[in-house]
Amino acid sequence: MYLEYLGLREKPFAITSDPAFLYLSKKHREALAHMVYGIRERKGFIEITGDIGTGKTTICKALLRQLDGSTKTALVLQSGLSELQLLYAVVKDFGLNPMTANRLNLFEQLNQFLLDEAAIGHNIVLIIDEAQNLSLRVLEQIRMLSNLETDKEKLIQIILVGQPQLREKLARPALEQLRQRIGVRYHIGPLDAEEVTTYIHHRLRIAGSDGTVQWTAEAAQEVYRCSKGTPRLINQICDRSLLACYVYRTTRVDRELVRRSFQELQGQVVGA
Ligand SMILES: Nc1ncnc2c1ncn2[C@@H]1O[C@H](COP(=O)(O)OP(=O)(O)O)[C@@H](O)[C@H]1O
Ligand SMILES: [Mg+2]
Repeated sequence: MYLEYLGLREKPFAITSDPAFLYLSKKHREALAHMVYGIRERKGFIEITGDIGTGKTTICKALLRQLDGSTKTALVLQSGLSELQLLYAVVKDFGLNPMTANRLNLFEQLNQFLLDEAAIGHNIVLIIDEAQNLSLRVLEQIRMLSNLETDKEKLIQIILVGQPQLREKLARPALEQLRQRIGVRYHIGPLDAEEVTTYIHHRLRIAGSDGTVQWTAEAAQEVYRCSKGTPRLINQICDRSLLACYVYRTTRVDRELVRRSFQELQGQVVGA
């Protein structure tokens, strides 16, 4: 372990998404703002896309922490669910006890829950992560969920989060009706060069760095070049670089060290 050698309290670039490390770049702030707006304005469907590792799940979790008690949320993470499994997961995640494993009954139970919550002024939010994997049938069922409404307003806001293929999927003629209901869209792009530098120093600071690690400006630029600004890849490259520091007995991360770490990482991926 390199922690002690480098004067760190914990790993700055772990691959798990720990909210303590959240860094709100311009894109992440905007994604969050779009979701909050869609929920508050009851826009029905909200679509959030981004490539793998750009921070979609991280931002969903940040959203959940930000909403107050008047918003009831459910987050469905699994993909590849059948219609029944999805309904079951949704009912459970809203904190209800699924009465049966019957589709219509579950639907009815959910409907009642939505009406009850609406009656006391609550807004309901369902977030479906990795939504690009949902089948057309399940997506169609999700649209049916959004049909639940009173005369005045939508009872449930549904946030579909997924890789860019989600957008392509929703473009299919069979999903025309769902697509028409998407009131808010946002695509999370990669971090720019400056943000990558800030991101690296932000994570080092949260990890309790005592200043032993010296990450040069050129090294940060090299991380940007190699990762193209994708947080997941940034974490992998930076973690490797810190390990390399320990191995080569240095506390200085320079361009060459990052370059070599990235190459090793690629070799590992190819060889895996
Ligand atoms: N805004 C952010 N602040 C801090 N870490 C982030 C941020 N966005 C992404 N990460 C990190 O990058 C990695 C991938 O993020 P994740 O949310 O799982 O991406 P996605 O869901 O888009 O594939 C995680 O380790 C996460 O901690
Ligand atoms: Mg994710």
